[in-house]
Amino acid sequence: MTTTLITGANQGLGRETARRLIAEGHDVWMGARDAQAGRAAAEELGGRFVRLDVTDDATIAAARQEIEASGGLDVLVNNAGISGHLHPTLGTDPDEMAAIFATNVVGVARVTLAFVPLLERSSSPAIVNVTSSLGSLTLTAEPGRHEHGYPGMDYPASKAALNLLTLKFAHALPHFRVNVVTPGFTATALNGFTGTRTVEQGAEVVVRAALLGPDDPTGTFFDEDGPVSW
Ligand SMILES: NC(=O)c1ccc[n+]([C@@H]2O[C@H](COP(=O)([O-])OP(=O)(O)OC[C@H]3O[C@@H](n4cnc5c(N)ncnc54)[C@H](OP(=O)(O)O)[C@@H]3O)[C@@H](O)[C@H]2O)c1
Repeated sequence: MTTTLITGANQGLGRETARRLIAEGHDVWMGARDAQAGRAAAEELGGRFVRLDVTDDATIAAARQEIEASGGLDVLVNNAGISGHLHPTLGTDPDEMAAIFATNVVGVARVTLAFVPLLERSSSPAIVNVTSSLGSLTLTAEPGRHEHGYPGMDYPASKAALNLLTLKFAHALPHFRVNVVTPGFTATALNGFTGTRTVEQGAEVVVRAALLGPDDPTGTFFDEDGPVSW
């Protein structure tokens, strides 16, 4: 059986990805920083709760120990993320920007580095990072694109960094599949439920990336329609 860990799985896209992967037969560890919310979601869906705050090394180490003791890990879905408040670029709050990077970039690095040794023991290791098209430099440079017109820079910059981090891990782990996917503008707490897509639609590409086989590509950026420009 494939064992999968999803960070930030108590709500939104992470929770829906857990629901879908459990239906696909994965043994899913549902990571959450809030034990009550995480436990409730795991009980409801038939996953396994593990407390995991991606900014807190102690919870990451404890989660790793628990998952290792119970048999290991095949797939890591780095889904947890925050967007902060929407400020225009020139109104960026550097402290808030640092907090966004601590979760969306450094948090992914912390969790990934901690779990690589476990994933190394899998016959089919995979890492899925959940980014946004707002992190695409190419689309942001293109006048007329909504990524170009998006007013803030903190969250987009964190996702651009996450995209680079994906390539670096893919190069460092050539026997893994390490890919980054974007769910599109999805109605979740992240955007006050203003997104135009449902979590079922948004999670589709995350699930697809988590189900890729050993012969599938690594180091790619895609959405449900195919490749996305870096
Ligand atoms: N919604 C969209 O339109 C959209 C578009 C592109 C990309 N994404 C990405 O999709 C991912 C999931 O977001 P979502 O839309 O599903 O938002 P969401 O419903 O707000 O879910 C975010 C999840 O991340 C968790 N989280 C935040 N900080 C964490 C931390 N330090 N440690 C562990 N978990 C933490 C949250 O936990 P709490 O419940 O405790 O806050 C929550 O479970 C994010 O990476 C986001 O950037 C979303």
